[in-house]
Amino acid sequence: MPVLSEKSSLLQASPIRKLAPHARAAEANGTNVIYLNIGQPDMPTPPEMIAQLHGLPLTRLAYAPSEGIAEAREAWSAFFRSWDIDYAPDQILVTSGASEAITFTLSIVAGGGGEVLVFEPCYTNYLSFAAQADVKMVPITLRVEDEYHFEEIERLRACVTPKTKAILLCNPSNPTGTVYTHAELEAVAKIAVENDLFVICDEVYREFVFDGGTVRSFTEFNELADRIIVVDSVSKRFNACGVRIGCMASHNKEIIDVALRFCQARLSVATAEQLMVIPLLENGREYSERLRGEYEARRDAVFTGLAKIGGVSPHRSEGSFYSMTRLPIDSCEDFAVWLLKDFSYEGESICLAPGEGFYVTEGLGVDEVRVAFMYDAETMARAMNVLKHAVEQYPGRKA
Ligand SMILES: Cc1ncc(COP(=O)(O)O)c(C=O)c1O
Repeated sequence: MPVLSEKSSLLQASPIRKLAPHARAAEANGTNVIYLNIGQPDMPTPPEMIAQLHGLPLTRLAYAPSEGIAEAREAWSAFFRSWDIDYAPDQILVTSGASEAITFTLSIVAGGGGEVLVFEPCYTNYLSFAAQADVKMVPITLRVEDEYHFEEIERLRACVTPKTKAILLCNPSNPTGTVYTHAELEAVAKIAVENDLFVICDEVYREFVFDGGTVRSFTEFNELADRIIVVDSVSKRFNACGVRIGCMASHNKEIIDVALRFCQARLSVATAEQLMVIPLLENGREYSERLRGEYEARRDAVFTGLAKIGGVSPHRSEGSFYSMTRLPIDSCEDFAVWLLKDFSYEGESICLAPGEGFYVTEGLGVDEVRVAFMYDAETMARAMNVLKHAVEQYPGRKA
């Protein structure tokens, strides 16, 4: 048999989805499984978006323009303007989710052997996007003890090599819920300028900042305008993961020109989906504000529940809809399987995302888990109670 390419082995199986067979088996045995592992919003997609889809006067579904349908680019520009972020329609390319935007961007700025700095724990798919683009992800490790903040600029500086091309920052962060401070963003900006780097800003959770805070978008750093590529998406803010619509935006004309060639190579993004999200892009702030309040209530339930578990000092997520937590457990991967195979409390169990998969550095995160806030606050509180009983009973509990 011919052997597969070396690259084929670089793409890891999703650490978030690999517990699915155990979860299905638990359900088949009558256990109610509460899924805390996947960031798939549970609330309905806005009815205006569905109504828009039904009302589209489409008679022929031809290829859309590679750069995106003009009205859709205008709607993205209006959306950014509502956040005081200035991108003209011709500085925006519509993509198939933020996923495609990140994959293109990594190829453009560092493809074929370049390095990109990333804070770990990080969104797991970054590693697969990087593998596709032949980019090496260089991690700057954030620690739960520091609430997953980094503060000192030296941590960043020490990771820069002659091959470093960019810094990738997810703000607010998946998986940690960190909202970076202005000082941290300034540190990133300083390193970018000092070392002539691009900054890739993944702001798909921009709306979801808790405790009355707001996210400082990187786009506020005007002096960095030509270095910044923003990637964005409707998936999370509008409960619309399945429409697969995102975008990339930059003031750097060369970036947009090259990115357009990537867009041309994949021809176009789905026509109906580009059009159906327009009303929400133009007028969706109130909708996502309601979601923010709901996620904050869920975050509170998770934090309160975790604080009741002996040996856990919970991290208070500042945004997005995730929390990363250290448990007094030897291996959270084994624990997550045990929860589904051998444990239930009052007929229920939980499916967790083990922390290891969110780290670039091997061996880190073995005693951490990510919790996604995908049920109402009451269910999240119940799930944390199930976790409490599980931690107390688990044979691999640390002393
Ligand atoms: C940080 C982050 N960036 C990008 C994505 C991908 O978004 P999309 O659905 O737009 O491809 C996700 C999805 O979970 C994410 O969490």
